[in-house]
Amino acid sequence: MKNIKKAIIPAAGLGTRFLPVTKAMPKEMLPIVDKPTIEYIVEEAIDSGIEDIIIVTGKGKRAIEDHFDNSFELEETLIRKEKFELLEKIKKSAEVEIHYIRQKEALGLGHAIWCARKFIGDEPFAVLLGDDIIHSEKPGLSQLISEYEKNRASIIGVKYVPSEETHRYGIIDYKEKSGRKFLVKNFVEKPEQGTAPSNMAIIGRYILTPQIFDFLGKQKKGAGGEIQLTDAIQELNKIQSVYAYEIDGARYDVGEKLGFIQTTIELALTRDDLREPLTKYLYELLSNIEKMHVK
Ligand code: G1P
Repeated sequence: MKNIKKAIIPAAGLGTRFLPVTKAMPKEMLPIVDKPTIEYIVEEAIDSGIEDIIIVTGKGKRAIEDHFDNSFELEETLIRKEKFELLEKIKKSAEVEIHYIRQKEALGLGHAIWCARKFIGDEPFAVLLGDDIIHSEKPGLSQLISEYEKNRASIIGVKYVPSEETHRYGIIDYKEKSGRKFLVKNFVEKPEQGTAPSNMAIIGRYILTPQIFDFLGKQKKGAGGEIQLTDAIQELNKIQSVYAYEIDGARYDVGEKLGFIQTTIELALTRDDLREPLTKYLYELLSNIEKMHVK
């Protein structure tokens, strides 16, 4: 089997959890400090050796294409003003080929992945979901690729979540665990509260063999009335071993408001230009919080 060089980033969701800001702006373009969330994902893919990315978009997502397009005027201006650091920042994504395809109906994550089947062809590939940002020394996807290369079977990134959160995720039920790696028995999408087979949740990083498309093409609607990627992986697991791997690093859920705010603060604290003033501000804020009368 070939190495992992292609990745799918689904970005067709409506972003209803962030209305009204997502009425005219894709949720993938919401900034964490000074970069759109989707750029963190694209950078993780680049740093993991991905050469081609296909972004599955939908209506109202044009800003994503504009963002990753060359901006000749802006580049010229930055060169003229000798702002080479800023130039560097806007050019990182040029290290990868980005392609686009539209999901014409919002039928779910599984269907969005299926829309990219012709681009992937007959080779194993990666999927990165935009709601999960991973901050780690070795990029999250790169950790999965290293594991994939050991036995060339599909492998899904997971992380521990507390029991009261399992109903929000795809959850694994595993047969064996060795270090960070699990041999998976079952994948369950969004189990009802109290019924999850474990606390290990899928966190939006996948390496899949192309056989997944055979199942996605005939997958029936699952949780939430949508065609679920997790259900197709469960079918794939019946004909090929599928593994899970506990990714090392901090994982941020930018798909919901509190997680988005936490991510913004924590990632700002990792930055040399912001750490000191932000820490000072947070201390002052916390020591005055009881005196504040915010309604
Ligand atoms: C999707 C997947 C789910 C996974 C989650 C991670 O759900 O279907 O299995 O645990 O992403 O973020 P969504 O958040 O799109 O509902």
